Amino acid sequence: MRTQVCIIGGGPSGLLLSQLLHRRGIESVILERQTRDYVLGRIRAGVLEQGLLRLMDEAGVGGRMRREGFEHAGTLIAYGEEMFRIDFVEHTGTPVMVYGQTEVTRDLYEAREAAGGIIEFEVEGVAIHDADRDAPYVTWRQGGAEKRIDCDFVAGCDGFHGVSRRSIPEDARREYEKVYPFGWLGILSETPPVNHELIYANSPRGFALCSMRNENLSRYYVQCSAHDKVENWSDDEFWAELKRRIPGHVAEGLVTGPSIEKSIAPLRSFVTEPMRWGRLFLCGDAAHIVPPTGAKGLNTAASDVHYLFSGLTQFYELNDAEGLDLYSERALARIWKAERFSWWFSQLMHRFEDQTEFDRKMQIAEMELLRSSEAAQKAMAENYVGLPY
Ligand code: FAD
Ligand code: PHB
Repeated sequence: MRTQVCIIGGGPSGLLLSQLLHRRGIESVILERQTRDYVLGRIRAGVLEQGLLRLMDEAGVGGRMRREGFEHAGTLIAYGEEMFRIDFVEHTGTPVMVYGQTEVTRDLYEAREAAGGIIEFEVEGVAIHDADRDAPYVTWRQGGAEKRIDCDFVAGCDGFHGVSRRSIPEDARREYEKVYPFGWLGILSETPPVNHELIYANSPRGFALCSMRNENLSRYYVQCSAHDKVENWSDDEFWAELKRRIPGHVAEGLVTGPSIEKSIAPLRSFVTEPMRWGRLFLCGDAAHIVPPTGAKGLNTAASDVHYLFSGLTQFYELNDAEGLDLYSERALARIWKAERFSWWFSQLMHRFEDQTEFDRKMQIAEMELLRSSEAAQKAMAENYVGLPY
């Protein structure tokens, strides 16, 4: 087999890149370790920035998202019984869109399939060869057979646990990491959301988030121990804990019901530099992770796709490698700002076991500043709706 761009990973970054390239006449093949249903069963991000919406439109898959997604003009921040709102539209002129990653992925799979795009599922033992030479190739096993594809470029879109980042020799990359001493326990339930906008809550018992997918599908999270297990939490225990962490008048309106999904996500900040090695380009979670507090994971994957897509089109259409040469620098400049925002918002919203009295006073002062200062709210809004690209 031969293709122009071999994409490893059929998550949102790989699918979006493949679909965008297809629209410009550039061929790609996607190699995905799991089945399509498995990928679509993962409940992850829910808040999309304008940049991702534009890319979905450019990829020809924005229709359902524009019809069924929900524009959110602001968000609520609670601490104890206090609550205030940050108005994104007032401060930046821009709302965000609530539309699940599952739906983004589904729309992209359907578009790739309708266009006859090649996606190889259940691939095992993917290995990248000669990425530092002119003629890279990728090998894998599938249904007992050994397979190989030759290509011009490899896009490593295979997430944090993928093979792409690890294919770059250790002495050619540098990793930066911060692991948080807690996780988020999340549930999905077929109940109406407690509020029409998201509520991020810092309570004495820890962080909680009230989010949603649509009018009858809610997504809620509570901060839990990094060592906790989903089995330790019955639905009743989850709802009781959530109620204790949000203001009383909000808790009164909470509609509870059986969970249809329950999972724990660890919190981590991670960046690898550079995001390119020869003809291999890392994209999305393969290169960086943010704690979910700022809703930036999927959105930073999208900005990487944008820079890589523009570098590849410049290469194929204008025979100019400048965009590819600048890819890592351009992507990382934006990534580090999203890392900073996610880190800052995580520090502000969670309870830390080793927090001193002084640290707690700093958190309260920061919260008071955010509640009362137009400038602080504007900075938060600017980052939350997404820095430009
Ligand atoms: P992924 O979605 O991880 O896709 C990578 C794909 O590559 C997967 O389909 C995987 O099966 C495949 N793959 C892996 N290894 C190989 C291999 N060796 N060979 C072939 N294929 C391989 N972000 C938010 O903004 N808000 C959230 O609430 C949120 N919640 C999250 C919860 C969890 C549990 C996790 C893990 C992430 C969450 N994120 C959230 C982050 C967001 O979902 C990711 O940033 C986003 O999925 C990144 O997309 P991606 O395509 O780069 O990577
Ligand atoms: C979600 O709806 O899953 C969600 C929303 C906002 C976040 C994180 C997760 O910051």
